Amino acid sequence: TGLVTLDPGFVNTAACTSDITYIDGDAGILRYRGYPIEQLAEKSNFIEVSYLLIYGELPTQQQYEEFAERIRRHTLLHEDLKQFFDGFPRDAHPMPVLSSAVSALSTFYQDSLNPFDQNQVELSTVRLLAKLPTIAAYAYKKSVGQPFLYPDNSLGLVENFLRMTFGFPAEPYEVDPALTRALDLLFILHADHEQNCSTSTVRMVGSSEANLFASISAGINALFGPLHGGANSAVLEMLEGIHSGGDDVDAFVNRVKNKEPGVRLMGFGHRVYKNYDPRAAIIKKTADEVLSKLNANDPLLEIALKLEEKALADDYFIERKLYPNVDFYTGLIYKAMGFPTKFFTVLFALGRLPGWIAHWREMLEDPARKISRPRQVYTGSPERAYTPIGQR
Ligand code: CMC
Repeated sequence: TGLVTLDPGFVNTAACTSDITYIDGDAGILRYRGYPIEQLAEKSNFIEVSYLLIYGELPTQQQYEEFAERIRRHTLLHEDLKQFFDGFPRDAHPMPVLSSAVSALSTFYQDSLNPFDQNQVELSTVRLLAKLPTIAAYAYKKSVGQPFLYPDNSLGLVENFLRMTFGFPAEPYEVDPALTRALDLLFILHADHEQNCSTSTVRMVGSSEANLFASISAGINALFGPLHGGANSAVLEMLEGIHSGGDDVDAFVNRVKNKEPGVRLMGFGHRVYKNYDPRAAIIKKTADEVLSKLNANDPLLEIALKLEEKALADDYFIERKLYPNVDFYTGLIYKAMGFPTKFFTVLFALGRLPGWIAHWREMLEDPARKISRPRQVYTGSPERAYTPIGQR
């Protein structure tokens, strides 16, 4: 008890200390374990970044190969897990399919329920990194009525995922190295972002000593929302809406400024970045490269560029320090790669997974750890006497 501070949305309250990710929102700085995101984006790869986030250091060559090999060996799903995909409606949104399948992993790996069994935690870590791409690809295949493809472990993680998603059993699948690299880069940029809504959720669920699969499943559900991971799909829906309404960017911006209910400039604004989002700067360059490589003359890109230009010069956005965030351009890239809009948030989840795991592990190793249990300020009725139902 004592003095309780009201802080809706934890705008000013730190819930933990963390060694993983550093953000300076005013300066537009993002670092994983001290390494600037720009350097990791240019020089590293997603497996290496996953290792860095989870274990705190860049791997040696041998550590890297062992880690990649362990992940490779665990890409298969239990055959019985495949039946889950048949239980969902064909047009199911893939995010709840993903979170349900991850939740179900707790039933297949019951040895891993103890979060303090270090060997099991290592195994669950690898299983999740290896299986989430397979689960995601199966969710996609189910939605389009195509057969599942088993993982091909001669391929790297991202290549394998692309092949399981877009390939067919009887045909060789040519994985385009430029696409693989672009998706790998997007995964790196999404890999961690300190105490965002889904990561805080993973920590909160894990603080009750729930196992890693249960905690990650909860994180996936938090990511589903349009103000968080769902924003990448919402951006594309917004651009499509503007396009089908006759490309009137000015009219849309006015609706945003008039605060019409439910109308926000999706892909703009961030709780922490108030200058620019360094991930958006890297992504914009990738968007140009990928879209020109795929010869995607997407009219939506034009609208996005116009929106960005207009918003950056408008007092409403300037006063509120609203800049493009990571999600503003990712949707256009994912669309050009062939992913349906509904699937974009799944790609965010694949990228964010190592961050969630790193935070869950850090939380459990923290000597200052406590079960998450926020306080509240009660604003309801004072004490009153019960009245029998006939007298109300
Ligand atoms: N379009 C129009 N107005 C906005 C927007 C926007 N995208 N974002 C914030 N505002 C306004 C908001 O109406 C408020 O104005 P006022 O002071 O007049 O009431 C002011 O800016 C401050 O906004 P807030 O909602 O208090 O800020 P927040 O820190 O609580 O919210 C946010 C951050 C990211 C949820 C919000 O900017 C937003 O909804 N953006 C659109 C959704 C989006 O792109 N989300 C992805 C975030 S990055 C990746 C991720 O985390 O998943």
